[in-house]
Amino acid sequence: MTIKINLMYSDPMILKTKTIFLNCLWIMISGFCAIPAFGQPGKNKAFVPIEIWPDQNGQHINVHGGGIFYYKDTYYWYGESRGDKTFSGGVGLYTSKDLYNWKNEGVVFAPVDNPESDITKGCTIERPKVIYNKKTKQFVMWFHLELKGQGYAAARAAVAVSDKPTGPFTFVGSFRPNGNMSRDMGLFVDDDGTAYHIYSSNENYDLRLARLTDDYLKPTTQDSLLFSNHREAPALFKYHGRYYLITSGCTGWAPNEASLHVTNNLFGSWTRIGDPMRGLDAKKTFQGQSTFVLPVHGKKDTFIFMADNWRPKHLQDSRHIWLPIQFKGDEVIIEWMDRWDLGFFDK
Ligand code: GAL
Repeated sequence: MTIKINLMYSDPMILKTKTIFLNCLWIMISGFCAIPAFGQPGKNKAFVPIEIWPDQNGQHINVHGGGIFYYKDTYYWYGESRGDKTFSGGVGLYTSKDLYNWKNEGVVFAPVDNPESDITKGCTIERPKVIYNKKTKQFVMWFHLELKGQGYAAARAAVAVSDKPTGPFTFVGSFRPNGNMSRDMGLFVDDDGTAYHIYSSNENYDLRLARLTDDYLKPTTQDSLLFSNHREAPALFKYHGRYYLITSGCTGWAPNEASLHVTNNLFGSWTRIGDPMRGLDAKKTFQGQSTFVLPVHGKKDTFIFMADNWRPKHLQDSRHIWLPIQFKGDEVIIEWMDRWDLGFFDK
């Protein structure tokens, strides 16, 4: 209305001023809308830690505490599908060809209506990871399971399988590995195809590693204490024949200082290197908590550190922090970057 009245002035000077003003306003509005370059479905060209990461529909990617694996030209990103508070909607999946643009494939494993089941609705499913078993041709998912109504007391590991990476995954069972409590966890497959479950145990004081059976469905009794200094959120990777492990401290959803350990032998002694994070807010892992280290397909010695910036009141809005891992001589560092892309690894 105001605009209409103003435009009715016939004085050419006033009209010119109004036109300039309206043009400026329009440029500002359209400029503002164009700001989130990481906000156009299918057009993302960079990683922008902590910002909204839209999927193909423009919705923020709702998988957390997760992990990624590469299979036949596609990256599969599994993680906690969340609602408000600690509501667990199961395990969500997103797929991508380039790591920047992700397609929501929906929930591939969900709690069930059966009150007798360990995964009855109301249970908590956290930190799911999926690996592929070449011998059985099955996709095997492990996750941290808390039984309905028991808070974090059950401390169990659980397994589900599928013959397709896109699921649906079928529940196999839940247990305490070799009788040990099991909360935050990760999976790691070595070059020879042997798989391992790494998990926080003994009220999170101990970090343990168990070799899995050949079908990846159970832990073997080769299950050892790695170290005992109250660590969780383990992310294990291998570089130049050595095994590296990033962990967080135990402060719930609140961020804390990360730690890096290294060993030549998974069941040998681990040496603490220290905090690999560098830059703004490094001592709080940039407001994040480790979840996974992703080897980039087709780029040798190239790894992306993945962390969750948790938003406990609205867990589905938790943000993603991905940063390149840099090897500088003997030093392994992870530096904060506002925005970066895979070209970083070619420098
Ligand atoms: C964190 C853990 C998360 C979640 C949270 C609940 O320490 O890493 O996965 O369990 O506690 O408070």
